Amino acid sequence: MAKIVAGFASSHTPLMSLPGQDWAKRADDDKRNRELVRPTDGKHVTYDELLASADPKIADHIDEEVFCKKFNAIQVALNELQDTFAQVNPDVVVMFGDDQDEMFFDDNYPMISVYWGDMLTHYPRLGNRPGMSEAVRISASVYGTEVIDYPVDTNLGLHIVEQLAERDFDVAQSRYMKEEYGGTIGPGTWYLDFQRQTKPRRQGMAHAFAFPVCRWFNGKRPPMVPITINTCYPPNWISPRRAYALGRSVREAIEAWDSDARVAVVTSGGLSHFTVDEEIDRLALQGLTTADGGILSTLPRYKLQSATTEILNWVAAAGAMGDTPMEQITYQPGYRSPAGTGCGCAVGRWLPE
Ligand SMILES: [Fe+2]
Repeated sequence: MAKIVAGFASSHTPLMSLPGQDWAKRADDDKRNRELVRPTDGKHVTYDELLASADPKIADHIDEEVFCKKFNAIQVALNELQDTFAQVNPDVVVMFGDDQDEMFFDDNYPMISVYWGDMLTHYPRLGNRPGMSEAVRISASVYGTEVIDYPVDTNLGLHIVEQLAERDFDVAQSRYMKEEYGGTIGPGTWYLDFQRQTKPRRQGMAHAFAFPVCRWFNGKRPPMVPITINTCYPPNWISPRRAYALGRSVREAIEAWDSDARVAVVTSGGLSHFTVDEEIDRLALQGLTTADGGILSTLPRYKLQSATTEILNWVAAAGAMGDTPMEQITYQPGYRSPAGTGCGCAVGRWLPE
């Protein structure tokens, strides 16, 4: 039977790929961001409202030298993750990721979907995304210039779909991409009080999967099974309890797969953003590093809004890693403005005995 030999996780915020000298450029984008949530009460606020109520101590972090120090610590951690991934050299990777206006829109947005077509194509971001800010354009270079037809393990994909259905998950499945795809999301509930619009563009691998492939797979391309969960968009966003249970069931499915394959679990995203919330980050890290499903299943919803919900990608991965605690390689609270905007940047790995 197949064996889960390791797990790997990192944030994928532009800050992971944007030199410290340029972090202030990303802060300019925050003034236009309509998805800012205040960490203390979960209230959806404007940049000016956030700034007015921000802890004055955050200002100590807004310094180019501090930005560069944090960026360097993140690179050291990502390089370490890359080295471990190369050493483990898994045969197959099962990936958990969310979708932010990439593969799914409101014409039909699944809570959980498994892709099991022959391949999933990655398109470089540069050139496929008009209207990027300067900061996002600089950081997008991490996604490379090469179109990658990434192989999918269709047998394991099909097996996971069947096993999840057998375990009472109403799972969606997809097997091919459209040539071009776009659409709208929202307005929904909670923080999502406006409509996000995406003009048709080539449909391919979402960034939650593409970031590990491009940044720390080290050129290796073990076949993947991408499992997409709707973390970000209400009303049918996944709950922490469901994300953890999904991970547990995916673990059972992998262990019941009739194969000698050495399987790795991979995820990316989070932690808190677009406002840094050290409290939810540290609570999630506590649950991850002690393999405490109770903590991970009950992370408070009022703090899990907007892209902070990508923490649930990690929760699903932790479920799949069973009783193995995660080793935290780094956590950097990536503040980039005095209002407290930025991203909690983390890197971690699971290495069972
Ligand atoms: Fe993301």
